[in-house]
Amino acid sequence: APNATAEAAPEVSLPAATSVSREVMVLFGSQTGNSSNLAKKTAKLLEERGFQVTLSSMGDFKSNTLKKLQNLLILVSTHGEGDPPDSAIAFYEFLYSKRAPQLEELRYSVLALGDTSYEFFCQTGKDFDKRLEELGAQRIVPRVDCDVDFDEPAADWMNQVVQALGQTSTAAASAVSAGLAIGDSAETEYSRSNPYYAEVLENLNLNGRGSDRETRHIELSLEGSNLQYEPGDSLGIYPENHPRLVDELIETMGWKPEESITLKNGDALALRDALLRHYEITVLTKPLLEQAAQLVPDSGISKLLEPGKEQELRSYIEGRDLLDLVQDYSLKGVTASAFTGILRKLPARLYSIASSSKAFPDEVHLTVRTVRYEARGRNRYGVCSVQLAERIQPGDQLPVYIQHNPSFKLPDNTDAPIIMIGPGTGVAPFRAFLGEREETGAEGRTWLFYGDQHFSTDFLYQVEWQRWLKDGVLTRMDVAFSRDTDQKVYVQHRMLEKSGELYQWLKEGAYIYVCGDEKKMAHDVHAALGTILEQEGGLSPEEASEYLIRMQQEKRYQRDVY
Ligand code: 2AM
Repeated sequence: APNATAEAAPEVSLPAATSVSREVMVLFGSQTGNSSNLAKKTAKLLEERGFQVTLSSMGDFKSNTLKKLQNLLILVSTHGEGDPPDSAIAFYEFLYSKRAPQLEELRYSVLALGDTSYEFFCQTGKDFDKRLEELGAQRIVPRVDCDVDFDEPAADWMNQVVQALGQTSTAAASAVSAGLAIGDSAETEYSRSNPYYAEVLENLNLNGRGSDRETRHIELSLEGSNLQYEPGDSLGIYPENHPRLVDELIETMGWKPEESITLKNGDALALRDALLRHYEITVLTKPLLEQAAQLVPDSGISKLLEPGKEQELRSYIEGRDLLDLVQDYSLKGVTASAFTGILRKLPARLYSIASSSKAFPDEVHLTVRTVRYEARGRNRYGVCSVQLAERIQPGDQLPVYIQHNPSFKLPDNTDAPIIMIGPGTGVAPFRAFLGEREETGAEGRTWLFYGDQHFSTDFLYQVEWQRWLKDGVLTRMDVAFSRDTDQKVYVQHRMLEKSGELYQWLKEGAYIYVCGDEKKMAHDVHAALGTILEQEGGLSPEEASEYLIRMQQEKRYQRDVY
């Protein structure tokens, strides 16, 4: 378990012990489920120590009850260009609005999740932390910002919070001083920290000959794992780096592949295996460059890190990997163990599950687009997608876990109509949705918007959609093949063409689901939804945008975007 050495919270003055409430609100804003999982752990930890804990998603939280809270813990992730998760938007906007109350009575702390390879690292957590302070709330312990490998810093934050809350509340204090072990206490179940080795049953290319794209349909066996999932959940895969990149890196640095490397957890393994399986080598981050500059002060890297050179740094990092770094800067002579000491752990890749477990018991299916491109004069390969496409065959095993995603779920009411927008591999969860609706005999109407480049080669799962259309499981389908015509057509164009009917579905209580590319597609689809509300419902642009936020809060508009 991660260490529990955190001392009592520094620099915080707490109100007199006797007045401190033992009630704690644990509020999470989660997009892929990590904050939600950590919030559950935090709540459990506090409950075990006698606190009265309420655990809630920000999406379900009634902002007008904020004033009544005494202890608030916020766990929130950041997305895209520093954006809050969808379920956190309404609460975030409320806090930053004029309606936000003064909160002098409130004690709080923030755990921020993020990724240092993004410029606006942990921005949402930082914003919550700053805003609560501005409103007069008192910080229990300082905010902790986590990178993708969040287990240890998150556990440290939990320890600090529990200690700080415990100190002002005598009953809990003794339990706390005994020290904590946070994590999946009993490793009897398969989880992110204890992945299941799933056998690959099938690995097919879904694209036709002549396509620009390659999309693998992967089937894995979960038999005997006891792993359960629902439509909308994701599968995490721990991938391996490309052997060619690993070998080039070792050769360039003049290291020995068999040299023994000791990992942070104390395990030792051969350098080549460590670089294949344990370390991230395809992404450069600012913290990594800072540490490399410290390792080799005269390498020239520190020039990139000078104040005022942010733009240069950003454009250097973009699209480059560790091999570029060691070739561009004089890092030769750094030992393998010093070098690996500054690398991030290779994170798991999450894929939206493409199967319903009711339709395929003991199996999980994925739809994975192979990422290959040329940049900076070299061929580049997506770590996991290229491993799946080139180096994984039926019979092989992959370390996997289920990542539950409470923010992408079919409506409980099986009669509710659903509108699914999923171009490209974004269609994956909708294969799971329809499989589920078929198996359960759900009556609600369903509408799929799908798109990709070419009808003849890129219509993923075409036969299945057509069967579902015939059987009535799929009520209607509109497709946009962007490169079959002179003018590009995208899913949002089809939505706008059908705006009258789409608005009618919404009036009748339809749920909207969007999956796929975040920056372009999901953004444009969101704008199209706004346009439809304005055109058909007579709303002003502001009213339309509020309407969409309200739909998100009511879970009638859910997104799984990446
Ligand atoms: P394109 O590659 O021809 O531009 C799945 O990747 C499909 O999404 C492709 O047809 C792709 O079209 C399309 N796409 C690209 N940008 C988009 C956007 N902003 N909105 C919707 N679809 C988009």
